[in-house]
Amino acid sequence: MAKDTEKEAAATKALDYIKDGYVVGLGSGSTAAIMIRLLGRRVAEGLRITGIPSSAATKELAESHGIKVKNLSEVGHIDVNIDGADAFDEQLRLIKGGGGALLHEKIVASASSRNIIIADSSKFTQYLNQAYRLPIETIPMASDLIAERLEKAEFSPRRRKNGRHSFLTQEGNHIIDLDIGHFRDLDDLDRQLHAIPGVVETGLFLNYTHLVIMGEGSGTRIFERKAGMMG
Ligand code: A5P
Repeated sequence: MAKDTEKEAAATKALDYIKDGYVVGLGSGSTAAIMIRLLGRRVAEGLRITGIPSSAATKELAESHGIKVKNLSEVGHIDVNIDGADAFDEQLRLIKGGGGALLHEKIVASASSRNIIIADSSKFTQYLNQAYRLPIETIPMASDLIAERLEKAEFSPRRRKNGRHSFLTQEGNHIIDLDIGHFRDLDDLDRQLHAIPGVVETGLFLNYTHLVIMGEGSGTRIFERKAGMMG
């Protein structure tokens, strides 16, 4: 499939940014999984790195590929973090959380000197607010109240499910997916959502990314953060 070829191309290119001795943030999702598999091969060839996984699934995958992993608190700082995204725009703003790992992913990103996103070309959009429903992570006790409130504010909230039950994040929280198509100012939206009691985190990654490596056919296209873009 074309998408898989692009994911593989982006993941392969990302390995160029990993140096011997680095502490590497390991993202979640299918594109990050390809990168982890390829990184495992480099480790088998002698590359020495420590991985900081952003989810239990990623931890398991990394270990199965022979990558040594540690907790964030054991290292304190990450040299480079490589993760996927559900959508990104030219300003390297992202929507993440399609897989529900947004909170840990954002914490790993916040501890990283360099954040690199790998994605297939379907993730690139001109209008981030219309590209993907925005996931927010909420404390279970507050989820109903938050959903009601966001319904009134016309976000058409959808409670994420796992079969008949609420989807549970790594921290035992819920996810609500929002239609943010009517919101242009995403910084303001992020502030407003964070101000609601019980909202733990949002899937808006507005100011983290230094570089996006997008697969394009069998090659890649690089989007770099321009000077002054980082807040
Ligand atoms: C996980 O919660 C997400 O943020 C993923 O990084 C995102 O969904 C990208 O996943 P794919 O690489 O599978 O598209």
